[in-house]
Amino acid sequence: MLPVALPFLCLQPLVENAVKHGLEGKADKCHIQITAQDAGAEALVVIEDDGAGMDPGLLRRILAREVSPTGGIGLSNVDDRLRQVYGDDHGLVIETAVGAGMKITVRLPKYQPGVHLAGRLTPR
Ligand SMILES: Nc1ncnc2c1ncn2[C@@H]1O[C@H](COP(=O)(O)OP(=O)(O)OP(=O)(O)O)[C@@H](O)[C@H]1O
Ligand SMILES: [Mg+2]
Repeated sequence: MLPVALPFLCLQPLVENAVKHGLEGKADKCHIQITAQDAGAEALVVIEDDGAGMDPGLLRRILAREVSPTGGIGLSNVDDRLRQVYGDDHGLVIETAVGAGMKITVRLPKYQPGVHLAGRLTPR
């Protein structure tokens, strides 16, 4: 399989959010799962937490940059950059509800010209 090109700093803000916001409000423990899977012409990276979740309507308005309750830029910045690199249909896919955690799917086309790997591959 080809190595998958991952645009710079696309996962870190999402994992940071799962740690930072996942614990908001409720439990003293939150599980975070990160999986990468081959899906034909794409690789899917899924970041999922079982924490606080959020109102999907508010999320939509944050991604549309209509509101920013915390002044945060993490989510919308990753979403914008993925759209810039891969096209408008490759923004973040987010499933969430209040109290129901958050599941974010990043879809990375495997055969996209012009996307460079971050870092070097070292033979093993
Ligand atoms: N995993 C998550 N669980 C619950 N709420 C989340 C999660 N990720 C994001 N959010 C909500 O979405 C909002 C926007 O996230 P975003 O990353 O853009 O901003 P931020 O984390 O507040 O600030 P920063 O710019 O430091 O990332 C957060 O303030 C939070 O309310
Ligand atoms: Mg954030």
